[in-house]
Amino acid sequence: MSAERFAALWESLSPVGKAGDDGGYVRHSWTDTDLVCREWFVEEALDRDLEVEIDRNGNLWAWWGEPEQGGAVVTGSHLDSVPHGGGYDGPLGVVSGLLAIDRLRERGVKPAKPVAVVVFTEEEGSRFGVPCLGSRLMTGAFDPAKALRLRDREGFHLAEAIGRAGLDPERLGPDPERLARIGAFVELHIEQGRALDHLDAPVGVASAIWPHGRYRFDFTGEGNHAGTTRMSDRHDPMLTLAATVLATDEVARMHGAHATVGRVDVAPNATNAIASRASAWLDARAADGETLQKLVDAIRQRAERRARLDGTQVAMATESLTGEVAFTGDVSRLAALELHAPVLPTGAGHDAGVLAGHVDTAMLFVRNPTGISHAPQESASHADCAAGVEKLTDLLGRLCQ
Ligand code: GLV
Ligand code: MN
Ligand code: MN
Repeated sequence: MSAERFAALWESLSPVGKAGDDGGYVRHSWTDTDLVCREWFVEEALDRDLEVEIDRNGNLWAWWGEPEQGGAVVTGSHLDSVPHGGGYDGPLGVVSGLLAIDRLRERGVKPAKPVAVVVFTEEEGSRFGVPCLGSRLMTGAFDPAKALRLRDREGFHLAEAIGRAGLDPERLGPDPERLARIGAFVELHIEQGRALDHLDAPVGVASAIWPHGRYRFDFTGEGNHAGTTRMSDRHDPMLTLAATVLATDEVARMHGAHATVGRVDVAPNATNAIASRASAWLDARAADGETLQKLVDAIRQRAERRARLDGTQVAMATESLTGEVAFTGDVSRLAALELHAPVLPTGAGHDAGVLAGHVDTAMLFVRNPTGISHAPQESASHADCAAGVEKLTDLLGRLCQ
């Protein structure tokens, strides 16, 4: 595949959801922008004579062959983004999946098994807070009753958002028949680090995903006047929040782990008022589950200790938790051995990590020279993306025959 040919399909999607002048993307699930992305996918799939369906959880599927036959070889990723994220995280896997079908046909492959490209819904959890929501619901890893209670930052329920898009909220939930039809899943993704750049390799294969979780801290104190309240009389939850953020960084470094507070929400959020409540979302990841648990416990203890000092209260809730994923099945082995690509772990979460508990799964990474992700500077050359399509085609071709 030439770089130009990759670019032609890539550029048909890239204007959608480009927000403001920072070059970042805002493609949150079930928004008008997301619906345009979904329409783009449906049109591209129909242009290729693929059978398109939307499943009970809002994931989109484009089939080459009969899904009922079983043993399907599925590739794909997601089209939603973090706020002002890069353009590649997600869409690269979807675009590459469509192009890989073109390449399989050009190579004269006659699949013995159905082949599909999937677009999973709400992978980033940027709108409703739970990452990989579409694949978690499908595999039964997330309770649909809980999903229906999820709200976005404006207070919109997930049920309303999917209802608006024509989906029946009552049908959300596990889809064992669909899952049982999948024989292999391959997700191609932009690399979210610089390992491939350092190795001078355009494509890599995933070995593992670190366990990770999202936690919400609610700090409550006493709202009061910023000008008249003596410093010694305050119960300021912003101080507890700030101390917790500093503790997060320190504790993560001490554990050789990654932990981040990238989102806060303060009430009433006024310059001349001491806050009455401050919420912070912790994203924590470590190489193994035990370290992750120790890390999160240590951060919680530091928050509670500081709250006692500040005379504030702290409550912590786990919003999502994903265990360690090791890509050690036949599909990953085939990818590692046949594609002559380096093998590397990642700290990022993916639908492939959710699927891996049920289906033989592999991930391919495409070199990202900036190493940056979840930010506008995320990048990949068209030539590397085209190389990614060729490797994906090689692997799908082996799997479907
Ligand atoms: C998904 O991109 C995640 O790792 O947060
Ligand atoms: Mn992401
Ligand atoms: Mn992603």
